Amino acid sequence: MTKAATQFISPLTFQALSAHPVHTELLDADQENAMGHINLARWADLLLIAPATANSLAKFSYGLADDLLSTLYLAVECPVYIAPAMNQAMWYKPATQENIQRLTRHGVTFIGPDEGSQACGDIGPGRMTEPEAIVQSLKLQNSPGILQGTKVLLTAGPTREQLDPVRFISNRSSGKMGYALAEQAQRLGAQVTLISGPVAIPAPKHVQTFFVQSAAEMYDTVMQHMAGQDIMIAAAAVADYTPELVQTEKIKKQNEKTELNLRKTKDIVASVAKLDNRPFTVGFAAETQNLEHYAQDKLRRKNLDMIAANWVGQAEGGFDSDCNALQVYWENGQQTFTITDKPQLARQLLALIAERFHA
Ligand code: PMT
Repeated sequence: MTKAATQFISPLTFQALSAHPVHTELLDADQENAMGHINLARWADLLLIAPATANSLAKFSYGLADDLLSTLYLAVECPVYIAPAMNQAMWYKPATQENIQRLTRHGVTFIGPDEGSQACGDIGPGRMTEPEAIVQSLKLQNSPGILQGTKVLLTAGPTREQLDPVRFISNRSSGKMGYALAEQAQRLGAQVTLISGPVAIPAPKHVQTFFVQSAAEMYDTVMQHMAGQDIMIAAAAVADYTPELVQTEKIKKQNEKTELNLRKTKDIVASVAKLDNRPFTVGFAAETQNLEHYAQDKLRRKNLDMIAANWVGQAEGGFDSDCNALQVYWENGQQTFTITDKPQLARQLLALIAERFHA
C-alpha cells in the first residue's frame, strides 16, 4: 500500500481481511535482510496495481522509485497490469495520456478504466474496473489455451476496387489490427484462417492466409472457408462501394469534371451472420464521429454478436498505427480497452470474445 492508500484504508483492515501481511515501507526493518522490495519482486508471478492514481502512473512512467510500490514496479520482471482510477479530467490530461502510452510501450497492460459517475460527482472515464472484472481479465489473459479447439476465421486489411488497369479505390488499413488478432488467436490455441486484402506486412506465422484484392473476392473467399468456423472476426476495411464498370484501358484525362458510377458491395460480415449454423460473429466499426451510436446501430443492423468500435482519422490509433483503443459492445454489455499496442489489444479483445463465446 502507498502512503495515500493507507489514508483511505488502514493496513490492518487489509491484513485482517486478506489474512496476509501488508507491506507499506520501502526499508522495512522487519524484513530479515532489509531487501524486502527485491524479495517481493522475485516472488510475484504478476504485478497488479489497482487502483493506480495519475501520480503513480507518472512515477512508473519515468522510473521514479521513492516508495515501496514504485520501487517494486521497477524491480519486477513479471508481467505488470494496471487498473487506473482517477477523475475524468485527470485521465484526459495529455500528461496522463502520454504516461499511459509510454507505459504501454514498456509492456504494461491496462485494465480499464471504466466510464460512469465518479466519487467527485463528475461523469466520464476514470472509474476503476470492478474487482471481479479485473480478476476475470487477468485469468483470461493468463490462460494460454482459451481458444483451444476453436476454429477462427478473420478478415484483415483493405480491399482494392479496380477502376481501370492502373487505378483503384482503397483505404488506409494496414492490416496490423487483423494480423495481430490472427497471430494472437493462433497463440491462444485456435486454428486460424485469415483472409487478407493487400498489405505490406508479413503474414502471421502458422496461420493459413489467403490473399484477395476486391470486396467481391473477399466475400467469395470467406464463404468458401466458412463451414465449421466457430468464430468470425471481421477486422478488414472492406470497400462499401465498387465501380460499376472496370475500364479495360486506362481512363484518359479529357473533361474538367468526370463522374464515377459506384454500386454497393455485398456486406461480408452481415452475410455471415445470416448463415444457418452461423459462427459467433464479431464486427468492427471504424468511425470518425458518434462512435457508440454508429457501432450500436451496426451491431443491431448486421445482427452481430459483438462489435469492436474504434476511432479512425485521428493522429493516434485506428488505421495504420501500431496502437489502438477499442470500445466493445454486445447485447446488454460493453467494455473499454484503452490505447495500447495492437498485439496486446488483440489479446484483450480475444479474451473477451472467448468469454462471451463460451458463455
Ligand atoms: O488495418 P489497420 O491499419 O490495423 O486498421 C485497423 C482498422 C481501423 C481497419 C480496424 O480496426 C477496423 O476498424 N476495421 C473495420 C473497418 C471498417 O470497414 O469498418 P466499417 O464500420 O466500415 O464496417 C463495419 C463492419 O462491417 C466491419 O467489421 C467490416 O469488416 C464489415 N464489412 C463492411 C463492408 C462490407 N462490404 N463487408 C463487411 O464485412
